Amino acid sequence: MDLFEYQARDLFEKHGVPVLRAQVADTPEQAQAAAEALGGGTVVVKAQVKIGGRGKAGGVKLAHDPAEAKEKAEEILGLDIKGHITKKVMIAEGADIAEEYYFSILLDRANRTYLAMCSREGGVDIETLAEERPEELARVAVSPLTGIDAAKAQEIVAAAGFEGDVASKIAVVLQKLWTVFDAEDATLVEVNPLVSTAAGDIIALDGKVSLDENADFRHEDHADLHDIDAEDPLELKAKKLGLNYVKLDGEVGVIGNGAGLVMSTLDVVAYAGEDHGGVKPANFLDIGGGASAEVMANGLDVILGDEQVKSVFVNVFGGITACDAVANGIVKALEILGDQATKPLVVRLDGNNVEEGRAILEQAGHPLVTLTDTMDGGADKAAELAAAN
Ligand SMILES: Nc1ncnc2c1ncn2[C@@H]1O[C@H](COP(=O)(O)OP(=O)(O)O)[C@@H](O)[C@H]1O
Ligand SMILES: [Mg+2]
Repeated sequence: MDLFEYQARDLFEKHGVPVLRAQVADTPEQAQAAAEALGGGTVVVKAQVKIGGRGKAGGVKLAHDPAEAKEKAEEILGLDIKGHITKKVMIAEGADIAEEYYFSILLDRANRTYLAMCSREGGVDIETLAEERPEELARVAVSPLTGIDAAKAQEIVAAAGFEGDVASKIAVVLQKLWTVFDAEDATLVEVNPLVSTAAGDIIALDGKVSLDENADFRHEDHADLHDIDAEDPLELKAKKLGLNYVKLDGEVGVIGNGAGLVMSTLDVVAYAGEDHGGVKPANFLDIGGGASAEVMANGLDVILGDEQVKSVFVNVFGGITACDAVANGIVKALEILGDQATKPLVVRLDGNNVEEGRAILEQAGHPLVTLTDTMDGGADKAAELAAAN
């Protein structure tokens, strides 16, 4: 989960990383009030969108007084930054910047460790620097066991070419940023720019943080950081129902048991779709081992709520949960859904108790249900029905 800058700023503050005072605003009036609350002096109005390069896109503007903060907020609210519409701005104190540096710590999957990156040349052109003069961007591996302690921090700042007083000051801040990364279970903490001010202070001026959602269970407070507005409503609904669902951009709804089977079902449906006008799978949904009627009904309910869906392919391999139980689940699910079930359902059952399972579905004779014998046959039928609807 990527955070907004203001959320990253709050986490930085919580762990003692030096940041500037700031407030969030949804309207120009609130922006003006925020600038007043911050003392009425120079502030920076910053678009809160989850994409970098806001400065260059006109999403970061200086305002000398609260009235100007209101004007700048008017310009920035609603601004489209690379497809992200600005709904909030952050009003931050203006910093008297002497120099801009770069620091990040991230999960280095390829090397199975963490990686710290640091440069004396930070700011809005960091991408160019990384490409054209990669030697200016120090890269230092960080062990998850020891993290960034005093020695590691010294190593990183030295590798980046910092010297003297500023080197020791930055080293202190890097250790605090490691605390953010470690304590909050982040996969990325990036500060660009990390600045030194005319007064000689080191401040994190912009922050980008990604949190590992797999660790949400030990961070109750992270639930508040989710951007409900931005989340896909179907994925949100599925999450509440405890389903493993991912919305995709297609017409054939897919339900299966077991992540591997569902993944290959997506491939087979996409392949079959090529013969039927290019229809594609509409989602990933793994209902897991215990495909009870309730789980099946919940899954169908989510999939049928997707307006793009024209047909559904239920592909189940009976294992511990046998096919007859799954078939009963489908029949009951259709009963529960009643009139809400409006789209054709292609069902392929195989494995444990397959004969019994098929018999149950045949006997129920639901007009929307088509039984197929094979996975390829089912995918083809579902794609054909999606193309026809
Ligand atoms: N509080 C601030 N005071 C003064 N200048 C700022 C402040 N925040 C950002 N800036 C300037 O704006 C530039 C871009 O802002 P930043 O927050 O890094 O946005 P982005 O990385 O999305 O462009 C910074 O490199 C810095 O020069
Ligand atoms: Mg930045």
